[in-house]
Amino acid sequence: RTRPVWAEEDGTFVVSRYRDIYALMHDPRLSSDPNNLLPEFADKLPPAEGPGGMAPAFIRTDPPRHDVLRRTVMRQFGPPHRPDRIDKLTPKLSAVVAELIDKIAGKPEADLVDEVAYPFPVAVISELLGVPAEDQATFGGWVDPIVNALTRPTPEQLQERNDAMQQLSHYMLELAQRRRTQPGDDMISGFVTDDGPDGRLEGGDLLSTLILLLIAGHETTVNLITNGWLTLQRHPDQLQRLRTEPRFAIRMVEELLRYEPSVHILPLRTAVDDIEIGDATVRKGHPIAVMLASGNRDAECIPDADRFDPDRPDNVHLSFAGGIHYCLGAPLARLEAQIALTQLAKRLQNPRLVADPPPYRPSPILRGPIHLRIA
Ligand code: HEM
Repeated sequence: RTRPVWAEEDGTFVVSRYRDIYALMHDPRLSSDPNNLLPEFADKLPPAEGPGGMAPAFIRTDPPRHDVLRRTVMRQFGPPHRPDRIDKLTPKLSAVVAELIDKIAGKPEADLVDEVAYPFPVAVISELLGVPAEDQATFGGWVDPIVNALTRPTPEQLQERNDAMQQLSHYMLELAQRRRTQPGDDMISGFVTDDGPDGRLEGGDLLSTLILLLIAGHETTVNLITNGWLTLQRHPDQLQRLRTEPRFAIRMVEELLRYEPSVHILPLRTAVDDIEIGDATVRKGHPIAVMLASGNRDAECIPDADRFDPDRPDNVHLSFAGGIHYCLGAPLARLEAQIALTQLAKRLQNPRLVADPPPYRPSPILRGPIHLRIA
């Protein structure tokens, strides 16, 4: 409220007001390419290239490269080309999450993170990409060390991440090769056979895109489900509605996204020009972090912002960011959370939180419990 734009000692500009974040997300003077940082800030953001000099994923690029790769993925992922892709997945999602929940339903105590929320998104993305059922456990085993090394990794975690990345990359390229000759109705088959206007997705671009889909949609979705369950346990009246009102899950998840966003701070931007915001100037070549969580609770734009209210008529949260990098997986993330939380509400008998608040992951960027034990 008092200093909506401020400069950290390390030169990063931090922006916290709804209107400013919204405008910046649509401002072409903001770049996602870390090569636009001044050299003194080079270590402030992770390098765009993956391990082994892998091509930058399109989330870390600007137009025109960003747009070409994003369009190629959109052709396989959603409307208007494949409006059926996610809808067709709904029964499968319900079955996968129901199986995970039934394994814990009879136990005296269970961890919702380890046993439900964490394995669920990997199973979903494996299915979408077309990883055969018999490979999905091995595939999930590679994803774990990659996701675990995202925030403040130890040297051992980095080593495990690099080993897993190498094996995963080898597997993906080999699977893509198989799908070229024996395509199925899955995304990898689409990427390697579809001669759309931008051509096929191949080589380094294919690999970095597949890994982006895995990583961008993992911990974010885990956090949405676990932050969601925690919030529902703290609001038993809303939990009860989830059991009885079939369409309540849609607006409830939207409000959860606003009230307990998975991505608290989005640090991946650089100014390519000086940008004036009110009486502050964000300097060219400096890193910018936008506080999505703060924008979501900005009383100037969101009435009664600190109240969890799934019935609010207009929910304009920033949790999937905005502009050209608006979360590509948003429809899938929404569906996963709607299904997981509805199934949890239906299948768990008198669940109780063992610890409130639960322990959180040590990340200022992605916010969510590291464990969520229920009895
Ligand atoms: C981008 C949030 C789930 C794929 C983003 C961005 C945010 C975000 C804030 C913008 C990043 C930026 O501007 O630099 C979330 C949240 C999720 C979620 C909160 C779950 C609750 C998913 C899922 C997938 C996915 C399930 C895919 C399977 C992507 C991709 C991008 C992206 C590919 C990059 C888009 C681009 O650069 O054009 N997400 N995400 N996300 N997300 Fe998500």
